[in-house]
Amino acid sequence: MPQTHAIYAHTGEDVLSSVFQQLDVDDDRLFNITMTFLHEMWDGLNNYGHDMAMIPTFVRSIPDGSEKGTFLALDLGGTNLRVCEVNLHGDKTFSLRQQKYKVSDALKTGEATTLFDYLADSVDAFLTDSGSPNCALPPSLARRNLAEVSDEEDVPYIPLGLTFSFPVEQTALDSGKLLTWTKGFAAKNAIGNDVVKLLQDAFDRKNMHVRCVALVNDTVGALLSRAYTSGGCILGAIFGTGTNGAYVEDMASISKLGRSAAVKEGNLMVVNTEWGGFNNSRSALPSTPYDNKVDRESINPGKQAFEKFISGMYLGEITRNVIVSLIDAAPKPLLFSGHSSKQLNKQWGVDTAVLSEVEEAWEGIGRFAPEDTGSTAEKLEHIRDVIIKRMELPPDSVSLNDADVVRKICTHIAWRAARLSSCAVAAVLFQTGRARLTRGGEETKNTAPLVDEGKRIGVGVDGSLVEHYPYFEKKLRASLRVLVGEDVERRVDIGLAKDGSGVGAALCALVAYRQNMVKQYHTVYEHEVANGVTESRGAEHSAYPDSLART
Ligand code: BGC
Repeated sequence: MPQTHAIYAHTGEDVLSSVFQQLDVDDDRLFNITMTFLHEMWDGLNNYGHDMAMIPTFVRSIPDGSEKGTFLALDLGGTNLRVCEVNLHGDKTFSLRQQKYKVSDALKTGEATTLFDYLADSVDAFLTDSGSPNCALPPSLARRNLAEVSDEEDVPYIPLGLTFSFPVEQTALDSGKLLTWTKGFAAKNAIGNDVVKLLQDAFDRKNMHVRCVALVNDTVGALLSRAYTSGGCILGAIFGTGTNGAYVEDMASISKLGRSAAVKEGNLMVVNTEWGGFNNSRSALPSTPYDNKVDRESINPGKQAFEKFISGMYLGEITRNVIVSLIDAAPKPLLFSGHSSKQLNKQWGVDTAVLSEVEEAWEGIGRFAPEDTGSTAEKLEHIRDVIIKRMELPPDSVSLNDADVVRKICTHIAWRAARLSSCAVAAVLFQTGRARLTRGGEETKNTAPLVDEGKRIGVGVDGSLVEHYPYFEKKLRASLRVLVGEDVERRVDIGLAKDGSGVGAALCALVAYRQNMVKQYHTVYEHEVANGVTESRGAEHSAYPDSLART
């Protein structure tokens, strides 16, 4: 496999300007990408089997901040695995205790049962370390010895919400089949299986009284948690290791659900777009040789095309490819006097955090603050230090001019990611009737009144890029303004859905648990009456645990 994409040109300037030009996405292209995005959204809403899967999530109501309860949540999908206990206070606030666990590459690519056993072990360790759970168990059960309940069916369980941040075709709030792995996961014998069952089987193998009652994607978690804390949200989006968005859709538009029962039960549903898989044909995306190389050498070539332009897992690798091609440029190297390093030659050798650091040094923020001090030469000196350290290059091979070139490459790649991200947000705003698209400053013909005209439009976001990459949101907004106009862009209220995965899973577990609660309560109550533990209290009695009481 070729290690680099060496390039040849008459002058160094020619090469550099051609590289930067390839990485630029002009406004016209942004508009066209957004239109293609909309077409793929419609395809996914009409039929199953598209790469941009537009998955109905069976989440039909959006929290308003009054929800109460304490739930366990398990979150798998990013860099870490997290187990948390989330306490929803019912006043738009929550508290959370959590523990992170590493997921090794061996677990990511081994047998699925081993991975799910590890998930179950992590929950077990969390429950053991944190003492008895404060979760939503009926008090009558919480204080009793589980062994007293003879029938296995009656054994109380701790409800758990699973945030599973991969494409899963849901068939209910608590079941769904894994369509494909992303983000470097490739565990065997998982695709096509129900992930809730895989997890439940692991709990059962260990005789743990934990039941997975809800399954959510992290984007759905971001949407629900932002709605909970801010009183309204129409889109949850992740810009982290991967990228994706979930939004509130009109049931009538999800035509692939046909006349199923779900359609009769409400008029809205959260749809998980799986926009990371947008335009896998790359007909609209601005692919360069550097992107093609990332894709070809990835664990999932031909898949997750949009994600590979945007997310934290890939930006460092695109940058590395550009850098290496400039080192190898002919007839004269254009970086580091032709020197490379082990780190630079290695796939994934440049982390997206390096781009972040370079930009922080340039902007004079983060550890390089305050921004008003420092000449250009000083800033480039800082960038040079970052390059030497993070790319493990000999100091005398890195000039200030090299630092400037690397800085420009990072900025171009991050700008492109933010601009492409804005297409996804604009498409959702258009699809939900909240924006008209503009091209060349002109609004496309559409006279229908806008939904929520003049009102705030809530968007919850999470992920390392949006949280830590310098000015990612600002860049995204600048392009969004081009696509939907200033009035709409200004009303888009983008807020961090911190801990969204945990809080979202808890909110879903609450919905699921409420549905099961009546059944559960009556079973226990009848058991107690039958054993003389409790006197009959009449059929109308409904003493739900405090943690579940509706406000
Ligand atoms: C997955 C999505 C997830 C996103 C962000 C993507 O790779 O397919 O399900 O929401 O990453 O974590």
